[in-house]
Amino acid sequence: MNRDKFKGIEVFKNKVWLSSPTMHGEEMTYMKEAFDTNWMSTVGANINEVEKYAADYVGCKYAVALSAGTAALHLAVKLAGERLYGRAKPDEGTLRGHKVFCSDMTFDATVNPVAYEDGEAVFIDTERDTWNMDPKALRKAFEIYSDVKLVVIAHLYGTPGKIDEIRAVCDEYGAVIVEDAAESLGSTYLDKETGKMRQTGTFGDYAAISFNGNKIITGSSGGMFLTDSREDADKVRKWSTQSREAANWYQHEEIGYNYRMSNVIAGVIRGQFPHLDEHIAAKKAIYERYRSGLSDLPVKMNPFDEEKSEPNFWLSCLIIDKDAVEPMVRGEKEELYKDVAGKSCPAEILEAIATFKAEGRPIWKPMHCQPIYRNNAFITEKGDGRARTNAYIDEGNILDVGVDIFNRGLCLPSDNKMTAAEQDVIIEIIHRCFY
Ligand SMILES: Cc1ncc(COP(=O)(O)O)c(C=O)c1O
Repeated sequence: MNRDKFKGIEVFKNKVWLSSPTMHGEEMTYMKEAFDTNWMSTVGANINEVEKYAADYVGCKYAVALSAGTAALHLAVKLAGERLYGRAKPDEGTLRGHKVFCSDMTFDATVNPVAYEDGEAVFIDTERDTWNMDPKALRKAFEIYSDVKLVVIAHLYGTPGKIDEIRAVCDEYGAVIVEDAAESLGSTYLDKETGKMRQTGTFGDYAAISFNGNKIITGSSGGMFLTDSREDADKVRKWSTQSREAANWYQHEEIGYNYRMSNVIAGVIRGQFPHLDEHIAAKKAIYERYRSGLSDLPVKMNPFDEEKSEPNFWLSCLIIDKDAVEPMVRGEKEELYKDVAGKSCPAEILEAIATFKAEGRPIWKPMHCQPIYRNNAFITEKGDGRARTNAYIDEGNILDVGVDIFNRGLCLPSDNKMTAAEQDVIIEIIHRCFY
């Protein structure tokens, strides 16, 4: 890093985080209540309350409190697998022998449950308007693999994807949707039928949210399965508590999991829920400050559909214009860039802000590039996204939107507790990167 460019800027006294827990006090009251009443278990008033709170807030009939968003996604995927292909043997997953279309630019917890259930993920490229699953690429995927019946989508960084278009394609091909709303609790999207905004987490046939420590509200960990189906909610409750049958002894007819939320964790979430809207407002203010503070640079903020959606602005991100990116190469675990005047790159910006004790992060690396999923199919707007080059024919640029965003984008410090003054310093550091 060229330190001369950053002369006069002082290192933050306290680290500025990407997105850390913001506590208010009520959390302690409810945790203590669990302790004082000895409901230090996976049953108790806090669990009942947060399930009611979540269902009311999101606008669904049932919410089942689980140990993590990943657990909620796993059981959502398993329910979908059973509905589509029947109950599996105890040592097999419900998706064995079946492909599943999945968001590509997301955290791996979105897609791993497909592998837990023995399914094969087929990754669908990203679109540029919301950085989520591209409905056009999804249609291509159905044209290639017309027997696929399950689609797993995520709303990245709290920005709703084009859920109406995705739903339309899925309906055409008779596929069901697992909706990963882990990052998007509180985000809304226009419901075409009612003309009203509707919470993410209510669009899928099965949906999950997360209360992981970095999320918009947290329990330190935790997640929830959301549904309008009493039967599905009951099944998830059963599976998440080791699948006990109605007998006086431990009797099991299906595989179970230890996935239920703790009543102590639920106490934290119970104290957080009343502050969700306040957290969203703070995140939105952060996004807007970046948007105006960076408006003179060759960068854009992570986009969203201003007419159809209202994100929760969980993470603010930027993407550098193509002609303003300096040379940067990434290996499997290391990266290198060349400092060029008037340009910058994600590696330089992340290194610079880290030097001043602020935490950013690269864009989530697309799943089709991850070593574990490198041999899985990947479908773009143009069709098969693998093996597209030809040594003897110039086919022009290869379309891979996810990799392009990964190469030019980054997540900015988006912590609710970051002050406007601290954010101004981060904005200044980013400016200096382009010197
Ligand atoms: C998109 C996405 N899906 C799923 C998860 C998993 O949630 P959890 O950490 O609660 O298991 C996360 C975050 O952790 C996430 O960001």
